[in-house]
Amino acid sequence: MGGFSAEREVSLSTGRGCADALRGEGYEVIEVDAGPDLAERLTELRPDAVFNALHGRWGEDGCVQGMLEWLKIPYTHSGVLASALAMDKQRSKAAYESAGLPVAPSLIRPKAEVMAGHVMQPPYVVKPNNEGSSVGIYLVHEDANGPPQLSEAMPANVLVEAYVPGRELTVTVLGNRALTVTDIITDGWYDYDAKYKPGGSRHVVPAEIPDEIFDLCLDYALHAHTALGCRGISRTDIRWDGSRGAKGLFLLETNTQPGMTPTSLTPEQAAAEGITFGQLCAMLVEDASC
Ligand code: DAL
Ligand code: MG
Repeated sequence: MGGFSAEREVSLSTGRGCADALRGEGYEVIEVDAGPDLAERLTELRPDAVFNALHGRWGEDGCVQGMLEWLKIPYTHSGVLASALAMDKQRSKAAYESAGLPVAPSLIRPKAEVMAGHVMQPPYVVKPNNEGSSVGIYLVHEDANGPPQLSEAMPANVLVEAYVPGRELTVTVLGNRALTVTDIITDGWYDYDAKYKPGGSRHVVPAEIPDEIFDLCLDYALHAHTALGCRGISRTDIRWDGSRGAKGLFLLETNTQPGMTPTSLTPEQAAAEGITFGQLCAMLVEDASC
């Protein structure tokens, strides 16, 4: 848990929660804040398995997975390739498209170009191609006065994606099964605060949407999981423009290390399907491999 990414605090929350839950299931757990000496610590500890509770760069993008492969220590969640692919939103979208899954039009463009003029017709969203938890995300409204002024912290190239109005839906895939659909309701934008402040958003699970849309979301999430080659668990985020019916669904991204904090979506979806938090964590550990 921990690590160096912009989602460090989220990861600490995920990690502590999962460690407690695993102890409750009878596992012996050592909590490790992943720093520069991680490989040495793991070599000393020689655990039976690593529960990867990292989010974001270095922990969700294949880096730590590669190190664990090298050390021959079984680990939870996805392997190197799926992690690297899923962390790259644009390349994930290419993989979805080749699996016949719907995505909104998008471009990767230099930051300076995005700030100089509209690179697509507003409304659109500008985000880093490889961050999580809505860190550094901009919505450019239909009637925006000009292009967005991006912060210094944004990378040199950014992802610009057509904004899909409507609902934010998400589906966790556990093993080979899509669990359920959650409809995420926020006053405004489902940003970092809405994600992690208690009461920042309301989650309707199972989502009260037409059966056809519900089933399509399950189907799309399962196919996204397979198209990226994910293992164990993933959570795919979807936008739905209800005015366009089944043609209004668009996949945003797949999270290979979905949040497991007290306000996170995946544990709620598991609970809705009768799987306790402890059981969920234990399932991931039992599925660990390298
Ligand atoms: N990136 C956060 C942790 C999530 O997807 O839940
Ligand atoms: Mg994400």
